Amino acid sequence: MAEWTECMNFGISVAKQASQVVLDAFKKDKEVMLKSSPADLVTETDQRVEKILISAIKEKYPTHKFIGEESVAAGDRVELTKAPTWIIDPIDGTVNFVHRFPFVAISIAFAVNQQTEFGIVYSLVEDKMYCAQKGKGAFLNGVPLLTSGQEDVNQCLVVTEIGAERDDLALYTMTSNIMRLLKLPVHGVRAVGTAAVDMCLIATGGADVYYHIGMHCWDIAASAIIVQEAGGVVIDTDGSEFDMMSRKVIAASSLPVAKRIAEVVQAFPCRRDDVDPSMCICGASSC
Ligand code: IPD
Repeated sequence: MAEWTECMNFGISVAKQASQVVLDAFKKDKEVMLKSSPADLVTETDQRVEKILISAIKEKYPTHKFIGEESVAAGDRVELTKAPTWIIDPIDGTVNFVHRFPFVAISIAFAVNQQTEFGIVYSLVEDKMYCAQKGKGAFLNGVPLLTSGQEDVNQCLVVTEIGAERDDLALYTMTSNIMRLLKLPVHGVRAVGTAAVDMCLIATGGADVYYHIGMHCWDIAASAIIVQEAGGVVIDTDGSEFDMMSRKVIAASSLPVAKRIAEVVQAFPCRRDDVDPSMCICGASSC
C-alpha cells in the first residue's frame, strides 16, 4: 500500500536522525547495565534512542503500536496484534557498541495484520541503509540486493551468533552446532555481533546462510523481509515456517541450503517472545 511506503520513508528518516545520537556516543565511555545475562548489555544510549524513535513515530502515527527492545526490558509485554505495529531495536549489537566494534544497527520493522510490510536496518558506522518493502525488492543505499542463490551447502559461508545465553545447555548446543557445520564441511563460519546486519549480509550475497537461536523478534523482524525481498528464504531452525516470535531463524540463499542447515542445527529451549515471561520455558503456566 502506498500508505506504507510513506511510513517506510518516515522510518528511514527517523533512523537516520537517531543514528547521530549513537554515533556521538560510540567513541565515548559508556555506563553498562546487565539484563538477562552477563553478555546481555544495555546502555543509556539504547534507552534514549528507543525513546527518540518511538516518540517521533507516535507523533506522526498516534494510533500505531510498538514493540521495542528496551520497553520490553522495562516490563512491556510483546503483543503483535493486527494493528499497525513498529518493531524496534534501537541498537542491535549493543556489545559491539560498548566495545566500539564497528557494526551496530538501528533495526525497524513494521507489521500490519501480523505480516511484515517493510524492514529498515541502518548499519550506522558503515553508513549502510538496508531496506525492503513487501513485493518491492530489497535495497542497500538505493542499490537492489540479490542473494547468492547458492544451493550447495558445502560451498556456503555461514553466519551465526554466539548470543547472550551462558548456561551450559545453550553453550554446548551452540558450539556443537558450529562443529557439525565445520565437519559438513562448509567454507567457513562468521559472527559479526549484530543479528540484523548478519542477515542483511545474506541479502547482499556476501554470505550464504545465517542461523541463530535465542535472539528476539526486534533483532530479526526487519532483516527477515530484507532477505526475502532479495530472493532468499527465511525459515525456523526446525524447518517449519518462519515465526518472528519463536527465537529461532535460518535465513538462506536458497531453500535447499536452508533445509540442510535445519537438519544439522539443534536448538536449545527458549521462551517465545510473545508468551508471559512468568510462564515456564516449556509454555506451561507452572511445571
Ligand atoms: C543482540 C545481537 C547479537 C545476538 C543477540 C542479540 P542486541 O541484540 O543481535 O548479535 O547474538 O542474541 O540479543 O542486544 O545487541 O540488541
